[in-house]
Amino acid sequence: MRSHYCGHVDTSLVGQEISVAGWVHRRRDHGGVIFVDLRDREGILQVVFDPDDAAMFAEAERIRGEYVLQVRGKLRHRPEGTVNPDMRTGEVELLATDLQVLNTSKTPPFHHDEHVSEELRLRYRYLDLRREPMLNNLRLRHTVARALRAYLDVQGFIDVETPILTKTTPEGARDYLVPSRTHPGNFFALPQSPQLLKQLLMMSGFDRYYQIVKCFRDEDLRADRQPEFTQLDIETSFLDEHEIMQMMEALIRHAFKVALSVDLPDPFPTMAHAEAMLRFGSDKPDLRNPLELVEVGDLFADVEFKVFAAPANDAGSRIAALRVPQGGTLSRKEIDDYTALVGRYGAKGLAYIKVNDRAAGAAGLQSPILKFLPGEAVEAVLVRTGAETGDLVFFGADKDKVVNESLAALRDALGVDRGLIAGDWAPLWVVDFPMFERDSSGNLTPLHHPFTAPSVDSPEQLLAAPAEAMSRAYDMVLNGYEIGGGSIRIHKTEMQSAVFEVLGIGAEEAQSKFGFLLTALEYGCPPHGGIAFGLDRIVMLMAGADSIRDVMAFPKTQNANCLLTGAPSDADPAQLKEVGLRLRTSAKS
Ligand code: AMO
Ligand code: AMP
Repeated sequence: MRSHYCGHVDTSLVGQEISVAGWVHRRRDHGGVIFVDLRDREGILQVVFDPDDAAMFAEAERIRGEYVLQVRGKLRHRPEGTVNPDMRTGEVELLATDLQVLNTSKTPPFHHDEHVSEELRLRYRYLDLRREPMLNNLRLRHTVARALRAYLDVQGFIDVETPILTKTTPEGARDYLVPSRTHPGNFFALPQSPQLLKQLLMMSGFDRYYQIVKCFRDEDLRADRQPEFTQLDIETSFLDEHEIMQMMEALIRHAFKVALSVDLPDPFPTMAHAEAMLRFGSDKPDLRNPLELVEVGDLFADVEFKVFAAPANDAGSRIAALRVPQGGTLSRKEIDDYTALVGRYGAKGLAYIKVNDRAAGAAGLQSPILKFLPGEAVEAVLVRTGAETGDLVFFGADKDKVVNESLAALRDALGVDRGLIAGDWAPLWVVDFPMFERDSSGNLTPLHHPFTAPSVDSPEQLLAAPAEAMSRAYDMVLNGYEIGGGSIRIHKTEMQSAVFEVLGIGAEEAQSKFGFLLTALEYGCPPHGGIAFGLDRIVMLMAGADSIRDVMAFPKTQNANCLLTGAPSDADPAQLKEVGLRLRTSAKS
């Protein structure tokens, strides 16, 4: 039906008969001549309908936006003065000799360059995907996936598929469950990741595995989180963490070079988790942002001001200062807005000191907390933060978690609002994570997953002081996003059992949930480790998109539903019966 894509037609074809097919992007009636911008995935070509052919012209008059046409004609130069330098095909036009209307279209709910709500875009996603930026995002995604595969192929990785109907693989989210018809009352879980299966492939001797794979997590959604998302999942045998990290950053460098012609640094910088928390309050700091937290708790141990004295004297709390260069220009309203921002992370306030004149001592400062604090402590803060005339210093004083989360969010916001982000790409490895953290009820939970190897020599050592144990995990961070995470795994039964014991998973529960893994560990398991990258996040960053939804063809909303198909939806009572389920009436309401 077509000899050329619309977008590929150029002056080299002038004088030739060609045929194109696509959608009506725009139609203009210029008193006697009809112009149609015909669009396909490669671009737009101007088609001209001349009134000489009365039948075809009458047909062309009925054409509307988004009709599907096949047009044959002769390519010619556009007349002098009508060349469009902004269009790839702007020097030529197709003089139609034959028109086939392959299909009509209703008036679409939005035009290509119209800004409309994301809800409308998701409802008519197939129309949204006709837009050039969306097409470009998905093409970029294709390019990235291809580059990743090509690199891994050269390195000897084998692509193996793993099941979607499987058993729980804990990655910290809720499982999506699928009821079994053949085993009423039993459920498959959709994988939160292929973690255990890829470890089994190492036990099978595959040595190097990868898969671009869907993962499913029922968790609170955000701009960079979807209930089903795509990982580039990787596992290797007989490599230590340094070898794996080297290979994986080379992989990411390759993808950036191919997709964006960007040279990422070689090597990526590495930072210990503790340092990242101390300096940035985050385990995924955006290093393009120059602002840093400065620890000042020791300066306030003896002050009367309770807001500072209490955290200064509590082991699980901290006081951190954040100096904003030239922040003295921040208005009352702006400071109130930032106070509201940190409040969302549990901060009870946002103390600050404006340095109007550094040389004038206390008289040169302006702050609601000065009257509560000894001059020496304030002076020490200014020295430690390097504050100068015109700067502002913010304070967070609370439990570690509250200070870290609130000041990390404040740092991000200030970075954007004050135009402080410098440079395009700042990759980073975060390493030396604690093995466990305490959940809200004080129990130890894995910081990564329970199959990550601790950096201890023996199970006895782990059991003696589990809260102190560090892990052999590594996260790859880019511009403030965690784009990948992995670790060396436990490859011995005794250590795996010890970790389950620390997590309060009894022998019986371990057997019922992970018995297959524990058994497999007993049949010659090699030392192994790996990583999984969030493909959606990598492409989002490359595309400069605000949300991973913009780089997924058919994403779900923040409420985890699909506006296009209406999923999830009711199940037929007969289907429910088949899988042995009955809904409680309350579940329907
Ligand atoms: P982890 O849970 O860190 O590790 O996931 C790996 C990467 O996947 C991305 N990611 C997500 N992207 C979009 N939506 C989500 N809901 C979502 N959750 C995670 C992130 C993250 O860095 N099995 C381990 C990997 C391993 O140890 O090899 C795992 O899944 O970019
Ligand atoms: P208050 O005594 O509560 O009025 O607080 C005095 C100043 O300290 C105000 O500027 C508050 O915003 C600030 N503040 C209160 N609690 C905290 C906190 N936990 N961290 C940082 N600043 C705080």
